[in-house]
Amino acid sequence: MSTMSELISIDGVCHTYTPAHGREVLALDNVSLQVQRQEFVALLGPSGCGKSTLLYLIGGFLPVTQGSIRVDGKPVGGPGPDRGIVFQHFALFPWKTVRGNVLYGLEKMGLPRAEREERARTFIDMVGLSGFEESYPSQLSGGMKQRAAIARTLAIDPGILLMDEPFGALDAQTRGLMQAELLRIWRGSPKTVMFVTHDVHEAVYLARRIVVMSARPGRVKAVIEADLDRADPQLTKSRAFIDIVDEVWSLVREEAVRAERYRAE
Ligand SMILES: Nc1ncnc2c1ncn2[C@@H]1O[C@H](COP(=O)(O)OP(=O)(O)OP(=O)(O)O)[C@@H](O)[C@H]1O
Ligand SMILES: [Mg+2]
Repeated sequence: MSTMSELISIDGVCHTYTPAHGREVLALDNVSLQVQRQEFVALLGPSGCGKSTLLYLIGGFLPVTQGSIRVDGKPVGGPGPDRGIVFQHFALFPWKTVRGNVLYGLEKMGLPRAEREERARTFIDMVGLSGFEESYPSQLSGGMKQRAAIARTLAIDPGILLMDEPFGALDAQTRGLMQAELLRIWRGSPKTVMFVTHDVHEAVYLARRIVVMSARPGRVKAVIEADLDRADPQLTKSRAFIDIVDEVWSLVREEAVRAERYRAE
């Protein structure tokens, strides 16, 4: 059950896709999860277990038809400026430049022009896209598009960040830099983050709690606490870190095996 200290309260959520053609898919089955204000939560699970679906529901991009999702006590009724989402497939406006994409949300917020420009510059620079302000998405690599999408969402500074494999298309080095940058931003102005990833190491490095979902239909299989000192530069080499990575890995592996078995049937 939820209490007032929770910012995101997910209770008994089921979601079925009913496409016009083809068969129904039960994507989420009775998912409950409470997320505290300013908490950093990672979501892991095999492909197709409903991670994106859960983020869309919280973001208000899909209607909640069974169970309830409350944000700050209020049922989610649609998208809102309190929730910023970084989509798995970037979702940039193809007809706008990098700068135009980042400015878009800032214009909707009604910020004065000088401040909009300043913020756009800051975040484009932060994701390493200075010099590409006037490029269109079609002129960017996958990783660059992803970074543009991240800049767009971070610039709005939403209280809740919903990030769907935001670093999935990045090379290892850029990924490491973006992870550190995200933690730095989060420390500077703590937000509530729900971060989907396939990377166990990334999940344990970033998140205070790691939610492992089961193979379809998605359920919460386990919630692992990772109460680690993230300011410690040796963290990823520490026993505590490695033990948690191992624990999460074995849970994820079990589900990946189950997902494979379903496919074979
Ligand atoms: N629009 C849709 N219509 C029908 N079925 C859908 C639709 N979107 C998703 N699904 C199905 O719902 C299930 C969950 O999909 P979802 O995209 O949430 O999974 P995911 O955990 O994000 O996977 P991945 O790790 O590959 O991104 C999948 O079985 C998928 O086939
Ligand atoms: Mg997904």
